Amino acid sequence: MSFTVIKHPLILDKLTRMRREETSSKDFRENLNEIAQLMVYEIFRDIPVKELEIKTPVKKAVGYTVDIPVVLVPIIRAGLGMTEGIQKLIPTARIAHVGLYRDEETLEPVQYYAKTTENIAESYVIVVDPMLATGGSACKAIEIAKEWGAKNVKFVCLVSVPEGVKKLQEAHPDVEIYAASLDDKLNKQGYIEPGLGDAGDRIFGTK
Ligand code: PRP
Ligand code: URA
Repeated sequence: MSFTVIKHPLILDKLTRMRREETSSKDFRENLNEIAQLMVYEIFRDIPVKELEIKTPVKKAVGYTVDIPVVLVPIIRAGLGMTEGIQKLIPTARIAHVGLYRDEETLEPVQYYAKTTENIAESYVIVVDPMLATGGSACKAIEIAKEWGAKNVKFVCLVSVPEGVKKLQEAHPDVEIYAASLDDKLNKQGYIEPGLGDAGDRIFGTK
């Protein structure tokens, strides 16, 4: 049932840039990837490492390697905007995809794509999407990941609201939720206030 807001001055600064309506698509994408990277850096603080013997140009030494396979599950479209930053930190991470869009009337998620990877059951699985609004999309994506065999699942978003956090905690109490911000509320159209608008449109310049 854990929900953590990762607080860091650099994240606050970058998220503020993303929120501003005048921010270009390019700057929006760059800051999104950078925040995703900073968040995963924090989240992975306690992951296990394995000792190994290496040889430097000078002598033998003890080295360390991260000892877990990682699978990222971006929720298409907007989650794709977080994968590059995370993959820079974890180049071995595999990517599984879930394609969902919100029905504009019902706000329910509609699935149009899903493709898993090998070894998802043994991996740390990180489902990513910048927005946790009603929580419908996150719940559905995690349900799909669990159907694929995922056991150790975390959800990482930028902007969340209490409604979405509650729904996700109730549907998937085993999943750790991380956000860069807990915003005020949803408006009548299901947008987060103050939020940052439609994340997919701002990443891909579609509006
Ligand atoms: C956005 C966002 C999430 C979803 C969050 O996607 O990227 O996936 O809304 O809302 P929820 O918590 O109420 O489900 P959208 O449906 O706009 O699709 P897109 O990423 O293709 O733009
Ligand atoms: N999806 C978005 O992209 N933005 C919101 O504010 C809510 C859902």
